[in-house]
Amino acid sequence: MNDLEQLSEIRAIIEATAQSKTAIQNVMDYLAAHRDDYHWVGIYWLDGLTLRLGPFHGPETDHTEIPVGRGVCGTAVKDDKNQVIADVSKLDNYLACNLHTKSEIVVLIRDPKTKEILGQIDVDGRRLNQFSKEDEGFLDQVGKLLAPYVAHLRTGV
Ligand code: SME
Repeated sequence: MNDLEQLSEIRAIIEATAQSKTAIQNVMDYLAAHRDDYHWVGIYWLDGLTLRLGPFHGPETDHTEIPVGRGVCGTAVKDDKNQVIADVSKLDNYLACNLHTKSEIVVLIRDPKTKEILGQIDVDGRRLNQFSKEDEGFLDQVGKLLAPYVAHLRTGV
């Protein structure tokens, strides 16, 4: 299935569910099941200067709260820039979640009007150099679909 077909399935998954956490969880489960080697997939939402873990699919992580500036996730917010890391072992500022992760991508989720950062999608890969521009573009589209739901996580609705 190509990216466009997957995006249309994801849109249907979101439309089928009114509850924000459940909708996001279902999308995380879908990504883990349908994208090659997406071995941990999760949402962090931004609460002031702290990223808080939302729904995710994959092994439990100790990193349920990440300060802006720390790790790949915190760097994405600090630099206001998506992060595509070919080899996590080469980074100094890296928060390891599990030993199977070789590469990582973080794509920011923004308010469609104000462009304020609402949160991010974080994906860990099993392979070195796993994530391409295509993944970044695809996850950006997924983030746009999820933005209203991530906004709900922030307000507790
Ligand atoms: N590796 C991330 C932490 C989150 S886990 O990958 C789930 C980082 O360095 O910010």
